[in-house]
Amino acid sequence: MEFKVKTGDLTTHKTPCLVLGVFDRRKLAGAAEAADRASGGQISALLKKGDLDGEIGQTLMLYDVPGLAAERVLLVGCGKKKELTRANARKVVACAIGLLQLTHCGDATLALSEPLPTDADLYAALRDSVLAAQDKVYRYSQTKEDKKAPKTPLKRLTLWVGGKQETGAAEQAVRHGHAMANGVALAKELGNLPGNICTPSYLADKAQQLGKDFKALKVEVLNEDKMAELGMGALLSVSRGSREPAKLIIMHYKGGKSDTKPVVLVGKGLTFDAGGISLKSAAEMDEMKYDMCGGASVFGTVLAACELGLPINLIAVVPSSENLPDGAANKPGDIVTSMSGQTIEILNTDAEGRLILCDALTYCERFDPAVVIDMATLTGACVVALGKHPAGLFTPDDRLAEEILKAGDAAADRAWRLPLWDDYQPQLDSNFADIANIGGREAGAVTAACFLSRFTKKYRWAHLDIAGIAWVGGKEKGGTGRPVALLTQILLERSGVLK
Ligand code: BES
Ligand code: MN
Ligand code: ZN
Repeated sequence: MEFKVKTGDLTTHKTPCLVLGVFDRRKLAGAAEAADRASGGQISALLKKGDLDGEIGQTLMLYDVPGLAAERVLLVGCGKKKELTRANARKVVACAIGLLQLTHCGDATLALSEPLPTDADLYAALRDSVLAAQDKVYRYSQTKEDKKAPKTPLKRLTLWVGGKQETGAAEQAVRHGHAMANGVALAKELGNLPGNICTPSYLADKAQQLGKDFKALKVEVLNEDKMAELGMGALLSVSRGSREPAKLIIMHYKGGKSDTKPVVLVGKGLTFDAGGISLKSAAEMDEMKYDMCGGASVFGTVLAACELGLPINLIAVVPSSENLPDGAANKPGDIVTSMSGQTIEILNTDAEGRLILCDALTYCERFDPAVVIDMATLTGACVVALGKHPAGLFTPDDRLAEEILKAGDAAADRAWRLPLWDDYQPQLDSNFADIANIGGREAGAVTAACFLSRFTKKYRWAHLDIAGIAWVGGKEKGGTGRPVALLTQILLERSGVLK
């Protein structure tokens, strides 16, 4: 979708559809009031008929409204004025876009920026609108005929803002939002692709493609021989049980000065997790195609950074493998040697994410990183602890925790910190190796993070467990593209583009 910013007189603005907000009890929002005046009170007169009282989720399409150059006027319910939060404002936009997709408009103008949500400035409100709009129009179609595809899909959205002095912030919001949304869409699409298409080699090809699309991006893919040379015994032990060769995908984005340390993002790219010999049960096992969503979010963030040309150095590392049962697969009790030299007793082959991540994390030492953040659909326990709303955040670094939590709030893509105290470390003791790959029944998300912490001593590091947020199940099953917005926010701030 294409986005534009527009200011000035709305009444003379030509558009197939002008979208206006109506609060609870038919109170017109800022732009709607002006439009109503221009129409000689026609809009408020129609509202008096009672077909829309302003609840969120309601819409009413009006035609031939006098005094306006717009062909149609779409009224959308915005709820109670005092309760117009960012979260509600996003629902309003999604609702408007959903209806527009059922029409033949193809192009529309959203005039919903007055008043702003109670907890947002113009930049945040408009960026949210772009993300909510793009989120709503995303449709998966690679392996299925999209029978319900809109006949006239929305191709262009104009965002109207009141004052001319505001267009700078508005245009920046739209540019950033658009790039973030493209990153989100890429992450969703990669997540939604089935395991038999989206294999480690597929992801590697995708990375190579990105490298061709953007000059600032150099892509490197390590094959299993190369990983063996590096001593990545943990990662390779997982892929040994699969016929698809593992790949270590590395993307270097150079947008900053050559002497500035890179931000390194690491994403779990497990393209299908059957559990290995510790086989998962059948129910919902298909959803384990989403076990590469950490990697997908890294791809999406790289795309956003490239599109924005951010002045930052960024390195993305995606260890990618399948986890399947096979004669050569890991067996409970097997001991492998990681690249760090630490030996690992594999007590449960389904705790494979940490095995592929630990070698990728050791590999990151060579980049002399400013910070390393890893994203992984790592534990069901994190979903039990936090549900489906925030990512679980783990880091020994309080300042880094604060930075990430704040960025999550700013991007409406939140995380919540859980402890990473040494008190939990003994749960990983093994009689036969330096460390066990599981820590027992209690605090599974914490012990998984504790495991990773043993491999990240040489740099500032944070871990995001995204098992609860990377996709939704049920009837609306699909990838969410999270936490691309959070990660892009961090890059926008670290690069100095946003204060
Ligand atoms: N990919 C899974 C985690 C997962 C499970 C994410 C369900 C989302 C929904 C991971 O590889 C895994 O299997 N973890 C185990 C760890 C356990 C064996 C210590 C888990 O969470 O059950
Ligand atoms: Mn697993
Ligand atoms: Zn997994």
